Amino acid sequence: MIYLIAMIAALTGFLFGFDEGIMSGVLSSIQKDFGLDDKQTGFMMGLLPFGALASSLITGKLCDWCGRLSVLRLVPVIFALAIFLVIGTHSYIALCLARLLLGVSIGMSVVVSPLYIAETAPSEIRGRLIVYFQLAITIGILISYILNVLNASHEMYLPWRWMFGVGFIPAAILFLGALFLPESPRWLCMQGEMDRAEAVLRHLYTANSNKRAKEAADEIAESIRKEHLQRKNQWKALFSKKVRPCLAVGVLLFFFQQMSGINVIIYYAPIIFNKLHLGGHMASLLATVGVGTVNVLLTLVAMRWVEKMGRRPLLLLGFAGTAVSLLIIAIISFLGIESLGWLAAVCVFIYIAFFAVSLGPLPWVMMPEVFPLNARGAGSSCSAASNWLFNTLVVATFPILLQNIGIGLTFAFYAIACVVGYLFAMRYVPETKYLSLEEIEAHIHSGKPFRTLNSGNK
Ligand code: BGC
Repeated sequence: MIYLIAMIAALTGFLFGFDEGIMSGVLSSIQKDFGLDDKQTGFMMGLLPFGALASSLITGKLCDWCGRLSVLRLVPVIFALAIFLVIGTHSYIALCLARLLLGVSIGMSVVVSPLYIAETAPSEIRGRLIVYFQLAITIGILISYILNVLNASHEMYLPWRWMFGVGFIPAAILFLGALFLPESPRWLCMQGEMDRAEAVLRHLYTANSNKRAKEAADEIAESIRKEHLQRKNQWKALFSKKVRPCLAVGVLLFFFQQMSGINVIIYYAPIIFNKLHLGGHMASLLATVGVGTVNVLLTLVAMRWVEKMGRRPLLLLGFAGTAVSLLIIAIISFLGIESLGWLAAVCVFIYIAFFAVSLGPLPWVMMPEVFPLNARGAGSSCSAASNWLFNTLVVATFPILLQNIGIGLTFAFYAIACVVGYLFAMRYVPETKYLSLEEIEAHIHSGKPFRTLNSGNK
């Protein structure tokens, strides 16, 4: 049951990944149909990250106000509205509005889905269930890549409007599925609805359900009672001395995830393979579908390793692997060794593999884990906003860097970011595997350094 709940909630990730991947394939057709110049295209493109950034910032508050489930149900409605607009419109303004709405729904989804999954999952499989969300992102990217390749090789296999229409299918499944999902038991406790919370927990923990549900509900209630003693509003709580280190972890994990240059590869893979002297149709195909496939497969591995190895070792492994592969690409490109283009291309795949097993899923896994309940909404909002902010910054600066300092130095820059990320994780990121959200919270309130949190003998 709990697996199905997480799968449905994770479907929002598909909407995110699909939209990320589809634009590169349909942009030139949109420009042609609407007669857009570069300025109009740039404005229209920028509306999605803008909408996502703005909505992710308010979604935490929204989740606290009207519940996690209502927000989760709203996401596919806004997404579908945007898709209808895209499919039906011939006006530039409506197209812009649709991009903005897509951004709003995606910005909401990246806050609410990991939060909801974390709050409904039993602690021993929480990490794995949140990785479903990242898995859905990677599947969304892969499917959009496949559609792009089909379109490029078969002269508009699907018209661009219908390419967007594909996103309607997961949105409809999510909408229908979400009608049957239970509310987060933690949110229910926060509202004082202890009986309903206990009933949901009984439903979630099928084995030993009565005893476990009672214990879990008591633990949540106790932790809420302690929070109430402090009586802080969530933004105040977020910036309080004890919670600031948690905020740093939430926000900086996404900062380093984006500074590793992942979206440069996701958006510009064909150009990069070309620069590595691997041109032609086959290279494009490899660059897109190949990258997308490795991304999906290694995310599946992450589902296992996130509980087996734990968050910290996996994160360190990811930073080390991405740094080394980026550095090799940088050196080969910097020295202009054309005969080693193939090695650089292999390193792109190795980089994707390390990213997918670690830097991709772990910030989403840890985002809802590292905050206490009364700051979880606001903290998740800030972390997701950091994802969008640095995503936009890295993608927007890549063409400028490429032109001015070349691909070698640009990749060296991303490699350095991964090295700094490694040092950051080493010094500041705690271990949260197997711990209940309430145990993590108790540690935060104890005033002990955040980094010293670990799973002990669990
Ligand atoms: C990142 C996205 C990225 C994707 C690639 C996600 O975790 O937040 O920006 O495109 O992974 O798989």
